[in-house]
Amino acid sequence: MNRKLIAGALAGLAAAASLVAGQVVATEASKPDPWLRPAAVPAPADNVPNAERIELGRALFFDPRLSGSGMISCATCHNPSLGWSDGQPTAIGHMSKRLGRATPTIVNSAYNTIQMWDGRKASLEDQALGPIGDPNEMALPIPQMLERLSAIDGYRAMFERAYPGQGVTAETVARAIASFERTVVSSTSPFDRWRAGDATAVSDAAKRGFEVFNGKGNCSACHQGFNFTDNGFHNIGIKADGDAEGRFAHRKVKVLKGAFKTPTLREIALTAPYMRNGMYGTLEEVVEHYDRGGDDLSNLSPNMKPLGLSAREKADLVDFMKTLTGAPMAIVLPQLPPGPASAPTASR
Ligand code: HEC
Ligand code: HEC
Repeated sequence: MNRKLIAGALAGLAAAASLVAGQVVATEASKPDPWLRPAAVPAPADNVPNAERIELGRALFFDPRLSGSGMISCATCHNPSLGWSDGQPTAIGHMSKRLGRATPTIVNSAYNTIQMWDGRKASLEDQALGPIGDPNEMALPIPQMLERLSAIDGYRAMFERAYPGQGVTAETVARAIASFERTVVSSTSPFDRWRAGDATAVSDAAKRGFEVFNGKGNCSACHQGFNFTDNGFHNIGIKADGDAEGRFAHRKVKVLKGAFKTPTLREIALTAPYMRNGMYGTLEEVVEHYDRGGDDLSNLSPNMKPLGLSAREKADLVDFMKTLTGAPMAIVLPQLPPGPASAPTASR
C-alpha cells in the first residue's frame, strides 16, 4: 500500500509527537529509540487527514444513526471511557447479541499494518464500513446509511468541506472515520518519560519488569516497538474456545492455525479483560498463562515455552506493563448535526 508519513498533519498530535521526538534526539544522538513514538502517525497518501476530515469522522464515529436500531455507534463498543474498548469479554452487538470476539481498543490502530484479530482487513479505510453493514453489529445496510446521511443538511455540508466535490459515498464515509481514528493515539506514559531520560518516572520494580519482558519472559519476541506489537500472528496456546482458525481462515499456512494478531500493550491497564475471547480478567492471569507456556499446545508458537518466573519477576512484569498507560486522553465529543430521528428501520 502506498503509505506516507504525514508529519504534523494531525491536529493535536503535532505537539505530543515533536515533544517526544525532541527528547529522543536529546538522549540518543542519531538513532530514534524504537520503543518511543515515531515522529508522525502514518496515513495513506490519498487520504491525508485535515481538521475537516477529522471532525466529520469524529461525528460519524459517535453517531448512533449509523446503526439499524439507531442505538449503536462505533463508540458503543469502542468507548473512550473504557480505553476505546467495551470492558466485555466479547462484544455485544445488534439487539444485544453476544458476538464471538473481544473488542480490541482502537488506540494506536493507526500504527497497525493490518487490522482485526485475524488480519482480515488491510487498513482503517477497509475496516470502517464492515461493522456498519454487519447484521450482527450495527445492522444498517450501506445504501440505507448513505441515504440517511444524505438527508441530513449538516452532514452534507461537512462532507463537502472534508472531501470537496466527492459527495456522501461509502468511500468518503470510510475515509473520514479512518481520519478520526488516526487521532486516537496513546498518551505519553510513565514508560515513555523513563525512556526519554527521566529515571524517576517508573519504579525499580517496573524497570526490572522491562528486563524480564526483553529477557527471561521473551515477551518482546512478539510485543515490540513503540506500539508493542510486531503486527504478526501467533498461536499462544489459548485454551480451546471454538475459535480455532484465526489467521489460517484467511491465509492457509499451517503455522497460522490458531494464530491471532499480537495486540498492542499501550493503555493496557484500561482494556481488561484480555485476549481475543476476554478470558483473562487481570494482567496477573495473563502472566500466569505465559509462565505455564500456554494451555492448548497444538501448533504452539516456537516462541512460547514455560518460563519458570519467580513471584517477584511476575509482579515486576505486571508493574512494567502498567507503566504503558498514560494520563487520561483528552476527548472532544462531537456535536452531531441535527436531522431526522433515526427510526429503527433495518431488518431485525
Ligand atoms: C458491536 C461492537 C462493535 C461495534 C459497534 C464496532 N466495533 Fe470495531 N471491533 C469490534 C470487534 C469485536 C472487533 C474485532 C473483531 C475481529 O477481529 O474479528 C473490532 C475491531 C475493530 C478494529 C480493528 C482494530 C485492530 O487492532 O485490529 C477497528 C479499527 C474497529 N473495530 C473500528 C470500528 C469502527 C470505525 C466502528 C464503527 C463504524 C466499529 N469498530 C464498530 C466491535 C465493534
Ligand atoms: C509468540 C508471540 C507472543 C509472545 C512471546 C508473547 N505474546 Fe502476548 N500476545 C500475543 C498474541 C498473539 C496475543 C493475542 C492472543 C489471542 O488472543 O489469541 C497476546 C496477548 C497478550 C496480552 C493481552 C492483550 C489484550 O489486549 O488482550 C497481554 C497483556 C500480553 N500478551 C502480554 C505478554 C507478556 C507479558 C508476554 C511475555 C511474558 C507476552 N505477551 C509474550 C503474542 C505474544
